[in-house]
Amino acid sequence: MYDWGDKRMSNTPAGIASIGIQLPPLFMPVTQLAKLRGVDPNKYTKGLGCKDIALCPDGHDAVSLAVGAAKRALSRWDRPLEDIGLIALGTESAKDMSRPLSAWVAEELGLVGAVRSYEVKHACYGGTLALRQALEWNWSGASAGKAALVIASDVALYSRRDPGEPTQGAGAVAMIIDEPEVASVSATSFPFSSPAFDFWRPVGDSFPSVDGQLSLDCYRNAVSECFGALIGDRDARSVLSEYGAMCFHVPFPKMVKKAVLHFGEQLGWSAQEAERLYREKVEDTLEWNQLTGNAYTASLWISVARALVGLREGTRITAFSYGSGYGAELLELTAGPAAASAQWVSDVEQDLDAREPVDMGGYETLRGHARASA
Ligand code: CAA
Repeated sequence: MYDWGDKRMSNTPAGIASIGIQLPPLFMPVTQLAKLRGVDPNKYTKGLGCKDIALCPDGHDAVSLAVGAAKRALSRWDRPLEDIGLIALGTESAKDMSRPLSAWVAEELGLVGAVRSYEVKHACYGGTLALRQALEWNWSGASAGKAALVIASDVALYSRRDPGEPTQGAGAVAMIIDEPEVASVSATSFPFSSPAFDFWRPVGDSFPSVDGQLSLDCYRNAVSECFGALIGDRDARSVLSEYGAMCFHVPFPKMVKKAVLHFGEQLGWSAQEAERLYREKVEDTLEWNQLTGNAYTASLWISVARALVGLREGTRITAFSYGSGYGAELLELTAGPAAASAQWVSDVEQDLDAREPVDMGGYETLRGHARASA
């Protein structure tokens, strides 16, 4: 357990002041991909729980998504750009081995000066690490009243015909770390890591390598370890009942359900009881993820953004972050006053309304040009 509790040097409460989301302009239903690959569509829809894959046309990438999300988050924040003292971008869609993706974004935003700017990499966990670092920068007092811009942005592509292909997706979530208008984040969190080769992308490779079964085992184990640490020797039912929603990293929706059922089994619960927990606290948080597909670092934060919509101030939620390799961390957030109006919903609605479907031919053409890092 990490606990910043009484070690904070800053007395100003910090949390998420503003959220901006950017989704790409194209999508393909997984049923179309199933047709293209000659697979029973039920495998993708029922077996994996997927619906749509969000896709980027040429010229769109993790940078353009990040810039779009950041502009939207900044437009709803009432301080000037000069008050940003840190930009941290979590991604696994790197463009360069040296230059951080944050430099491309800062350039587009005109963010120059006494600003710490960097990229954070730990597979899908990078955005959460960036968020924690920004909070801890604030809590340490080093921020000296400045705010941080944290972005999670990715384009998730597998090689064609890879078993991961139906889980592809893309998206970005930007969060300004300042007054906790949208949500405060608890100083206590529950990390767990254990080195593994479950999912990785060697330098120079365009697409990831995956040990599918190992990746499922690692994810499930990380959920059990992190929630086990949260619950400790207390009663699991009463601890979990304190939360209005439980959000997870979403590599594909069925993964989340599998992990919840597995944890329920470990607690000695009946399958029905674990199913009920999933239905009551988790299922609704996956609504946007089903339409974006896996957006790697952004996936958890898309789910958190969905869960916060309309939440009464003071309602607590959990956020489980997982990154292959592997590292995980369980956070606790409390809804602030701006969760009720949830202005970021308009980002999602606008992008979903405007996006266009890609047919099988269009998808193959797109994939002909695509690289994971492009
Ligand atoms: N109708 C209904 N269901 C069907 C079906 C049909 N016709 N055919 C198969 N299914 C079911 C299977 O029974 C299975 O369900 P269960 O697991 O509940 O038994 C499900 O569909 C998937 O079938 P397979 O296990 O045969 O699928 P697969 O091996 O082809 O691919 C995968 C699954 C390995 C997860 C693959 O999608 C993959 O490699 N994904 C990327 C890795 C990943 O996402 N891992 C998750 C943890 S790692 C992480 O979280 C980081 C990250 O973001 C990547």
